[in-house]
Amino acid sequence: MSHFDDLQKKIESKTAHVGIVGLGYVGLPLAVEFAAAGFTVTGIDIDAKKIAALNRGESYIQDIPTSVLAPLVKSGKLKATTDFSAAATMDTINICVPTPLRKTKDPDMSYIVNACQEIAKYFHPGVLVILESTTYPGTTNELMLPMFERPGLKVGEDFFLCFSPERVDPGNVNFQTRNIPKVVGGITAACTKIGAVFYQQALETVIPVGSTRVAEMVKLLENTFRMINIGLVNEMAMLCDRMGIDVWEVIDAASTKPFGFMPFYPGPGLGGHCIPIDPFYLSWKTKQAGIEARFIELAGYINGNMPHFVVDKIQNALNDCAKPLKGSRVHLMGVAYKRGIDDVRESPALDIIHLLGKRGASVTFSDPFVPQLHADGVVPEMAAIDADKGAAEADCVVIVTDHKDFDYARIVERSKLIVDTRNALKGNTSDKIVRL
Ligand SMILES: NC(=O)c1ccc[n+]([C@@H]2O[C@H](COP(=O)([O-])OP(=O)(O)OC[C@H]3O[C@@H](n4cnc5c(N)ncnc54)[C@H](O)[C@@H]3O)[C@@H](O)[C@H]2O)c1
Repeated sequence: MSHFDDLQKKIESKTAHVGIVGLGYVGLPLAVEFAAAGFTVTGIDIDAKKIAALNRGESYIQDIPTSVLAPLVKSGKLKATTDFSAAATMDTINICVPTPLRKTKDPDMSYIVNACQEIAKYFHPGVLVILESTTYPGTTNELMLPMFERPGLKVGEDFFLCFSPERVDPGNVNFQTRNIPKVVGGITAACTKIGAVFYQQALETVIPVGSTRVAEMVKLLENTFRMINIGLVNEMAMLCDRMGIDVWEVIDAASTKPFGFMPFYPGPGLGGHCIPIDPFYLSWKTKQAGIEARFIELAGYINGNMPHFVVDKIQNALNDCAKPLKGSRVHLMGVAYKRGIDDVRESPALDIIHLLGKRGASVTFSDPFVPQLHADGVVPEMAAIDADKGAAEADCVVIVTDHKDFDYARIVERSKLIVDTRNALKGNTSDKIVRL
């Protein structure tokens, strides 16, 4: 039997041993879906704390309730280890490790390289490897393939290699790993086919594409589309501000057009692991091809300026109340990068705290999802305080994250002055409110 037929049989009978490398926001939900679909799943991560928590059946990812994880661990369907030798018995391996940017905005491929080097030590015929980390087009065939291919191990025949972009949207209650359509592209047609067969076992919709490069580019198109449209609407917000026009009312009215318009909303800046970062993977790669991704650079500049714009707004609002920013107390409502989640990676709140500190303000914050901010060179170590107390004691309250859990009427009642960067106080006509 060929390796392809053998693997297909194992996958379709759910006897394939599924491996997931990197058990974060992407890897853990994927591991849970495959374990729930009946596969025996082993996760590998370098973070011993995550491994210990998972093996105790305790979830550390907000979207995965412990009540879902624990029975899978208890039944032996899902376990985790820091030891890569587990890869020796895996039939499939999904790689979901971080792909951050270096300070120079160049891709940091070290996590993918480290994971692949470890996997290569235990590589064996018949295995399917799928990269899910967001990356530049060409990563799978230019960087990964040479790490696995060797005499006697031919891709598409002896092993299979694919890229499948991860589209998970933390905190989204309607769309999660199982019902978000899954794009997959392989190095060869056989790779694509076996990759699609694999995902079909646990996910609702699978979309095969012609190559790994197309699959890689799909993710970058999606995220660049968002980044640029957010950049456009942030620029609109700044233009409207200068001209004394309410940008929120403009967007609401434009959204009544039944075709050809899709609303995006301004805000204090981009956050999270994807939108602020991924498009720069594309612009880095296009530079090598001698072509500049100009929209990306421009949107990056505009979005990166938003925390400065917000801090200027706070300063001006305080000035109008005859209070200098220096020496004032500013309280941030929300520090997570978006509503309903606990993730502060790349959150604009961090930049706002840093900029306020530089201008001599003292800063406090409330966030129902984030009890503590850890010092990271931008923000000092800070603990969340009670929202009521924060609002009452501050010279200015700033709504940075529009969590549903905040009691907005009460915040308005208690505050002296509010800068609302999210239109969370839509419809409230209090003259304490300054909108973005
Ligand atoms: N978080 C999202 O919303 C999201 C959405 C779509 C795509 N992505 C992409 O998915 C990838 C993973 O993102 P994430 O949010 O899950 O990151 P994460 O930081 O939550 O998880 C990554 C995990 O990989 C582990 N890890 C790092 N190096 C490793 C190694 N060499 N071997 C094994 N494990 C290792 C880390 O300890 C961590 O647990 C990134 O490329 C990201 O851009 C993320």
